[in-house]
Amino acid sequence: MNVLGRPTRTIWPSPDGAAVEIIDQTRLPHAFVTARLSSLSDAAHAISAMLVRGAPLIGATAVWGMWLALRADASDAALAGAHATLLATRPTAVNLRWALDRVRARVAPLPPARRADAARALAVAVCDEDVALNRAIGKAGLPLLQAIAARRGAGQRVNVLTHCNAGWLATVDVGTATAPIYAAHDAGLPIHVWVDETRPRNQGASLTAWELLNHGVPHTVIADNAGGHLMQHGQVDIVIVGTDRTTAAGDVCNKIGTYLKALAARDNGVPFYAAVPSPSLDWTIRDGVREIPIEERSAREVTHLSGRRADGTIETVGVVPEGSPAANPAFDVTPARLVTGLITERGVAEASATGLRRLFPE
Ligand code: MRU
Repeated sequence: MNVLGRPTRTIWPSPDGAAVEIIDQTRLPHAFVTARLSSLSDAAHAISAMLVRGAPLIGATAVWGMWLALRADASDAALAGAHATLLATRPTAVNLRWALDRVRARVAPLPPARRADAARALAVAVCDEDVALNRAIGKAGLPLLQAIAARRGAGQRVNVLTHCNAGWLATVDVGTATAPIYAAHDAGLPIHVWVDETRPRNQGASLTAWELLNHGVPHTVIADNAGGHLMQHGQVDIVIVGTDRTTAAGDVCNKIGTYLKALAARDNGVPFYAAVPSPSLDWTIRDGVREIPIEERSAREVTHLSGRRADGTIETVGVVPEGSPAANPAFDVTPARLVTGLITERGVAEASATGLRRLFPE
């Protein structure tokens, strides 16, 4: 997508060929700053400290991280160590395991001298594939928005609600949940997006809003608790969210709070879709509530908030009484029965084992 008029991805090889560059997402929306990853530990830190985040981008960064590791040491032991180090960075998004297993399968049969180059070529390919998958999701999801626009009639805006950031910042480019939104906006549909702020880290308020603003998509940031009310008053036509892991039976794991939106959507007859690129599908499990590991993050993300003061400096303040404990489960699971459909790169699937098997028979 464009940043200050320049086509920009979230991750790219540095011009000198010696490192990888990323957008440091911890600095958005107040500053657009890039960071350089030169080693395995830089890549692992970028994922665990959430300089990069979002399931597809975590996967892409991990492949680049494997290249950085193998460039320094391409032995069998180093390959296993890098795989383990990167896999331990964040537990929930299955794209991470998918990406790491893919690199290992590609490079392990090769002599060590050829491994780093092979990992680098794979990193380039995974990034390009991610963009292609997201564009295909945009194409598959666009008719859903066109149908709402046609039903509502000329001049009536189509209200989409989204949670967290499943936009281009969460991927290499384009985004998953945002792909149909950008496609519809670019096609001239009167799209408006309700952006859940997404406490505790505020990925909606900080990242999705920033993206939509940059691309000129009309949007309104709302407190996480406002969605149900808006649905009751007919102000949400469709919910589209991303996913960190979707099971073979169609259970959708995504940022904490997604489940509550699905419940409210069901109660109000609002269609609820998840945008699911195939690397986010975990074919090894069916019951998302019981089988998906949910990341527990620092309580400090709940007890403190950061923001920009009038003088431009960033300040972090406490928002709960000192001494009150806080808990921070970072993801939840929306059971398939609450999901209207899964927007994949191969089309829209029913959220069920049968629906997914129909699109992914292999
Ligand atoms: O903790 P984050 O910011 O990595 O969580 C991101 C999400 O939950 C996204 O919705 C999900 O990764 C899908 S991104 C296309």
